[in-house]
Amino acid sequence: MPARESATRPVAGGASYILLHNTSEVVTPDLAGEKIVRFPKGAVVFQEGRVVEIGPAADVASRHREARPVNANGHLVTPGLVECHTHMVFAGHRAEEFHRRLKGESYEEIAAAGGGILTTVRATGAEREAALEKNLALRLERWRASGCTTVEVKSGYGVTPQGEMRLLEIMRAAAQRVPGRVHRTALLLHALPETYRGRRERLLEDLATRTLPEIRRRELASAVDVFCARMAFSVEECRGLLLKAREMGFAIKLHADQLERNGGAQLAAELGAISADHLESASDDDWRALVKAGVVGVLLPAAALTLGLPLPDAGRLRALGARVAIATDFNPGTAPAQSLLECGALAARLCGFDAEETLLAMTWNSARALGVEREVGHLNPGAAGDAVVWECETMEELPYWLPAVRPDCVFIRGADLALPTVERRVWP
Ligand code: NIG
Ligand code: FE
Repeated sequence: MPARESATRPVAGGASYILLHNTSEVVTPDLAGEKIVRFPKGAVVFQEGRVVEIGPAADVASRHREARPVNANGHLVTPGLVECHTHMVFAGHRAEEFHRRLKGESYEEIAAAGGGILTTVRATGAEREAALEKNLALRLERWRASGCTTVEVKSGYGVTPQGEMRLLEIMRAAAQRVPGRVHRTALLLHALPETYRGRRERLLEDLATRTLPEIRRRELASAVDVFCARMAFSVEECRGLLLKAREMGFAIKLHADQLERNGGAQLAAELGAISADHLESASDDDWRALVKAGVVGVLLPAAALTLGLPLPDAGRLRALGARVAIATDFNPGTAPAQSLLECGALAARLCGFDAEETLLAMTWNSARALGVEREVGHLNPGAAGDAVVWECETMEELPYWLPAVRPDCVFIRGADLALPTVERRVWP
């Protein structure tokens, strides 16, 4: 699909042939994403933006004498993290609603009174495009500085056909301003717009017959997402739009079984979605359906914590054979969370994932949730040269420290670009 950026796009300042050595260890998912492979004091070689070799340092170095050596200073090297679920294009925040929830109001009650998602829709609609674009670019840079080399961004706070197109254009423009890989998803069914009140069918028809073809024509997104929930859109409504999107060649994904069990995961399995996200209320049968259909289950611990929803137990997911990714869900309503690694650290504690599972969930599995697991999320030869040198020594430290471990440097397409030195405030 066209809305992905080329892996070979040259990056300013990129050296084309690098030996990353003097590591404490290099760790990577294997090619099938089944397990983590560890190379104590290993080395990795990038050439023309890709990994050409990974392994024991002495062997690797002897075969790449011409490469420019880069010293990892005895630190841990992993693939760049893959963030597979964010709603980063929005204005304002909802701290006041959060406060009301702390005092007892529910997410659904606030939404039913015209707040919630629609609060952010109004704030985003009132903000200038240039400001939304700049803010999104700053957010993407913040994610890169915390080790994410691939980031998914959803629209969703436009809600009307025109509003969604506006955000998708802003997403494309912002993505062009940053070096990281950006995956654009059109979240087309999120909340019923005020202007379509009483006209749900009309919205579905407009989206299917006008918006989807236009997104396709302008190459604005590679995937389509929906919020399947009692307070949002029904299984039938979601099925209709997703079928149309799939027919047009979009990858499809769903916000499923979050606030209540509603058939979202079963729909993801039925349609062959690339991921089903949230799943706090999913049953074992729902997870079994996802496993059978090869759908990644994306857990969003910040959203679960913020809404007081339970997260599944790692032992249960292991027994079911689930493939699990972890993401921030960054959004102003349910997940004002700005570090994927910290969300991984939360999931490790709240679900019981070990360090290996946590890393898989933020690399190979999350790449799979975007359909790009051949390209990113691991450091096997042929993969993109996207890697992080962390300011720690072992994989076990990644989900351990809070606040999370920081990167020393972040390679994208084999190039070690300067990171923003001061993290700018990225909320308005
Ligand atoms: O992923 N659940 C639906 N959408 C977002 C929240 C949106 C909002 O409250 O602004 C989520 O949790
Ligand atoms: Fe979400």
